[in-house]
Amino acid sequence: MSRRALAALATLALAAAATQAADAPPAYPAGAAAFQANCAVCHGPAGAGVPSLAPPLLSYPARYAGSSEGRRQLAMTILYGMYGDIAVEGKHYASRMPDFGQMDDTALAALLNFVAFDLAHAPASVAPLAPAEIAAERAHALEGAAVREHRKLVAPAEP
Ligand code: HEC
Repeated sequence: MSRRALAALATLALAAAATQAADAPPAYPAGAAAFQANCAVCHGPAGAGVPSLAPPLLSYPARYAGSSEGRRQLAMTILYGMYGDIAVEGKHYASRMPDFGQMDDTALAALLNFVAFDLAHAPASVAPLAPAEIAAERAHALEGAAVREHRKLVAPAEP
């Protein structure tokens, strides 16, 4: 995709996000702002995904947040990206999730909390991700393909 097309998509995403913000303020506003700036271009402003570009983030992240391996998966995905075929809600994605390891642990935890709680509606009984959980995954770097292998432990097998 050209830079101009990406910029146009980002503008659209921001406009849509501004409309949405009027409805319910996010529980993680810093994460929400970072999501619109860094993630909405691929996953859509409301995290609904874009066919064959990037999966929806409306269900699996809530499931991941509820288990320790799932929480590791969220941290790994955002730190190292992910590469390789995955199926989400019956659709396949085989593009590359970029890595965001250049952002600090606090910013990444806020981003993941926005995704898990505001977008995917993880229940209130689930603890928010802490910056220390991101720091723990930074300690052992992974390839995007390995992140996708780890996903098999925490996501259901879809056809
Ligand atoms: C360039 C497009 C792109 C951008 C930007 C992007 N992603 Fe992704 N994301 C993807 C793709 C593609 C996948 C699936 C990777 C695969 O098929 O292995 C993915 C997967 C994910 C997953 C795993 C979903 C699952 O079911 O396991 C999460 C969580 C996620 N992205 C969050 C984010 C967050 C948060 C941001 C912003 C910091 C972001 N993404 C930015 C393309 C993108």
